[in-house]
Amino acid sequence: MSAQSSGRRAVPVARRRFLAGAVALGGLALGCEPSSNNGNPDSSPKPEPPDPESPDSESPFTLGVASGEPRPGGVVLWTRLAREPLDGGGMPRRDLEIEWEVAEDERFAKVIARGPGIATPLFAHSVHVAVNGLRPARWYWYRFRSGKHLSPVGRTRTAPAIGSSPDRFRFAFVSCQDYQAGLYTAYEHLAGEDVDLVVHLGDYIYEYGVRSGNPVRRHEGAEVTDLQGYRNRHALYRSDPHLQHAHAQFPWMVTWDDHEVANDYADAAAQEPKSPDSFLKRRSAAYRAYYEHMPLRRSSLPQGPDMRIYRRAQFGDLVHISMLDTRQYRSDQPCGGAIQPRCAEALSESQTMTGPAQERWLLQNLDRSPARWNIIGQQIMLAQFKAGNGAEALFNMDAWDGYAAARARLLAFMANRKPSNPVVITGDVHSSWVNDLETNFDDKTSSVVGTELVGPSISSELPPPFELAVEAARADNPHSKFFEGSSHGYVLCDVDRRRMRSDYRVVSDVTTPGAPVSTLASFEVADGRAGAHPG
Ligand SMILES: [Fe+2]
Repeated sequence: MSAQSSGRRAVPVARRRFLAGAVALGGLALGCEPSSNNGNPDSSPKPEPPDPESPDSESPFTLGVASGEPRPGGVVLWTRLAREPLDGGGMPRRDLEIEWEVAEDERFAKVIARGPGIATPLFAHSVHVAVNGLRPARWYWYRFRSGKHLSPVGRTRTAPAIGSSPDRFRFAFVSCQDYQAGLYTAYEHLAGEDVDLVVHLGDYIYEYGVRSGNPVRRHEGAEVTDLQGYRNRHALYRSDPHLQHAHAQFPWMVTWDDHEVANDYADAAAQEPKSPDSFLKRRSAAYRAYYEHMPLRRSSLPQGPDMRIYRRAQFGDLVHISMLDTRQYRSDQPCGGAIQPRCAEALSESQTMTGPAQERWLLQNLDRSPARWNIIGQQIMLAQFKAGNGAEALFNMDAWDGYAAARARLLAFMANRKPSNPVVITGDVHSSWVNDLETNFDDKTSSVVGTELVGPSISSELPPPFELAVEAARADNPHSKFFEGSSHGYVLCDVDRRRMRSDYRVVSDVTTPGAPVSTLASFEVADGRAGAHPG
């Protein structure tokens, strides 16, 4: 079932039936093998690792458990069996039976669903179970069994019923967790917060090799480019106990940015000039390892270098979330990329950030949404930000500033069709911002049509020269209401029918364990009135 199986309702599963189901589901997984098997550790000549059912085997649940993609009737449960997580997994090169169960209580006194599954080496012995038949807006507890080993217990929550009118929904959003740049103290605190969902906006891993100098922690090897490398890198990140704990406490919705594959890639184009064919091979490996390590639905199963990750989630009529993919379908960064004065290409109608199909999908979501709050989860900053004035003004070509016409279409849509309370949540820039979204950022009389909240990184750094450059340019960007560039943490969003409150929660330090968390700033967006105000 490493591809993904359907969950089932709560019936005790006899051993014989369990095995029969496992064989059937194993066949299903085999049918889903992506075409690329580049770097698969299955092909290595290592001796066969010990059988997981042998009495002296160690627990294969080294990477914890996770859940995600909440719907009113179910969630996806995830784990990966890996006795040697940093070295290809260390599991036998054959399909392994597992069992999963879901309970209404932490002690599993009231188990209401359980079933069999298969962890196959084709997907690094990962397991994705789509459980159905649960009740809406409820907490549940889940765990897996492999041989004599039980996994840690995870807690998850289903979404409110479609058509229901919840009074309140709380979520946190996070991004950018460079392992070498800092400790995950922010996750230690996030795990203790009271939220219904965690949204990850990308840079879950960084592909880089070992950093020079004296990093807080070290990557396990060189820059990753193949399947085994990406698997080991995900495993390294996932070995962090605070990250595991945050996954085990809440359902997550994830999307990626660039570093899950390679810095500043755009569709089939790598940052360095390389043939699209060789980059797409790398992208296949990276997407596959990403799928293997995330609690994603089968609809996101990669097909070679393609993987559908843009999708939406509904939380009654209070909150809808559209999760975007701004890497896989975008035009190459214009004007030579990086931070540059704008050339004509940055303003071209043909520059796309999302690709036309995703753009249509997003506008349709917004147009038809009955939700009071329409959240758009994405990676790079949507609001304009310029350093300097006139033809010499500098813009970030990797952000929406390099795709100005595509941004203008989205903001004109917000102005004309007036979707209810659009709020864009953003990662990527390792700093905290609040921006008014305007149809013309250079016109002070332009009306505010939406709100953008940019969250701090979990650990990744904003180099001090960038921080200073942003501070110096703030006066030329009056739609940008708040900026802070040296803290790490997450944003807590508390949404009710009359306002959305956002607390920027930051830790004072990511270089030594145990730093406390505090609220850097709080903002509120009032229902029916775009733009955030200190709250
Ligand atoms: Fe990042």
